[in-house]
Amino acid sequence: MSKPVSTISWDNGRVKLIDQTKLPLELSYIYCSDVKCIRDAIKTLKVRGAPAIGIAGAFGVVIGIQNSGAQNFDEFEKELNEIIDYISTSRPTAVNLFWALNRMRETALSNRDKSMSEIKKILLRTALSILEEDRKVCRQIGLHGADLLEDGDTVLTHCNAGALATADYGTALGIIYKAVELGKKISVYADETRPLLQGARLTTWELKQAKIDVTLICDNTAAVVMKQGKIKKVLIGADRIASNGDTANKIGSYNLAILAKAHDIPLYVAAPTSTLDLSLSTGKEIPIEERDAEEVTHWFGKRITAEGIKVYSPAFDITPSHLITAIITEKGIAYPPYEKSFKEMMK
Ligand code: MRU
Repeated sequence: MSKPVSTISWDNGRVKLIDQTKLPLELSYIYCSDVKCIRDAIKTLKVRGAPAIGIAGAFGVVIGIQNSGAQNFDEFEKELNEIIDYISTSRPTAVNLFWALNRMRETALSNRDKSMSEIKKILLRTALSILEEDRKVCRQIGLHGADLLEDGDTVLTHCNAGALATADYGTALGIIYKAVELGKKISVYADETRPLLQGARLTTWELKQAKIDVTLICDNTAAVVMKQGKIKKVLIGADRIASNGDTANKIGSYNLAILAKAHDIPLYVAAPTSTLDLSLSTGKEIPIEERDAEEVTHWFGKRITAEGIKVYSPAFDITPSHLITAIITEKGIAYPPYEKSFKEMMK
């Protein structure tokens, strides 16, 4: 694959982000130089996808704290906690956000003996490392996962777990990019992913750029293409994975997992280990974000339903671990029982 798009970067004291709400009609960037801009960008899905949200959160901390006039570490810590709490209210499900924010907090705490200006520099270096590490992690996930794809496979994917969701070429899509790089012929079916159409708008755009054969389907077409024998594997990303392997991912992933089981098709989850939340025993404990009704009742700003229609719009669902064939991380491939394989993997 040629160099992936730069979804998020640090640009001279500002965070440069692709505005993903404008894709694919327009490839434009926003520049955030205050923490509200970062929180809004996460909340409104200008930046989205678990790893990218984590990176954005880390840079949000850097931006938020850079004008701090704190005279001592206690004052500094108070401001830092306020910034972290504020960014935390953007979206609740992707644990990568909280993982990155915690890492920033821990970094500050373990450098409390240094001057405030030194700690600010260290925090910037930490955010840049989180971004850099994500690049390597994507490549490792790609490497491990590509072994699971055979020449000639057609893969069904959901939402967008590609370059637009990470600092490099993605998790689920990274595996496809790597397999293609290794000379395998891979075709992709992409679910449109209602209501915000990350599959239709982002995944097809990304794969087209990479010259990978992609066919867009409506979400409700998945059963038919499986029945017709068109799908060899299902490959999705994750926003949070509990210690038993239950996986939160974009709403509709659970449907796919049930369908895959019914058609005897393997379903793989690809995610960095920063998406594991080993403090949770099952998926029941994962907080699920609910989105605004307007995202369902309106289509590009235009109402498509009668006024006053009630809407239920969870952004994510939980795929129970017994429907997941394997979970591909940068540290290797975990097979059931996940509790045991995660423990070994994280040693
Ligand atoms: O609401 P989104 O677009 O942030 O949801 C994204 C997903 O569900 C992705 O599959 C997940 O974050 C993994 S991205 C590598």
